[in-house]
Amino acid sequence: GAAVQVDISAIPPGQKLMVEWRGKPVWIMKRTADQLAALEKLDPELADPESKRNAYPTPEYAKNRHRSIKPEVFVGIGICTHLGCSPSDKFQTGAQTSLPDNWQGGYLCPCHGSTFDLAGRVFKNKPAPDNLEVPPHMYLSDTVLLIG
Ligand code: FES
Repeated sequence: GAAVQVDISAIPPGQKLMVEWRGKPVWIMKRTADQLAALEKLDPELADPESKRNAYPTPEYAKNRHRSIKPEVFVGIGICTHLGCSPSDKFQTGAQTSLPDNWQGGYLCPCHGSTFDLAGRVFKNKPAPDNLEVPPHMYLSDTVLLIG
């Protein structure tokens, strides 16, 4: 499939844009400074905080805690690595009993309860075998992303 070019300048901090690439939903999430800082605290609770697993290999440039080229901008495929459902945004705990008490925001898969942080890193003891996939991508300019 063709690569997809996306202008990310209008995404407000704390929100995500969804585009389609090769028939898959690709999330482009602009994380706030607080959301980025929260990622650091989560490492011990994650199955693969440094993205070393290979079911869905993470590109070299995203093998870091924030799993991205620019720290604030996460680019990931919005398909659960378990059986392919679409995880939902869960930025707060609210009445969500399936989320841990110290939930820092992230994604919850409605099918079997896998939880992911805002870098798409899967929590321990969840059915999903790997972090969310990061598609190949690069920046054509400061605000224009090329996916694929
Ligand atoms: Fe997401 Fe099973 S498909 S947890």
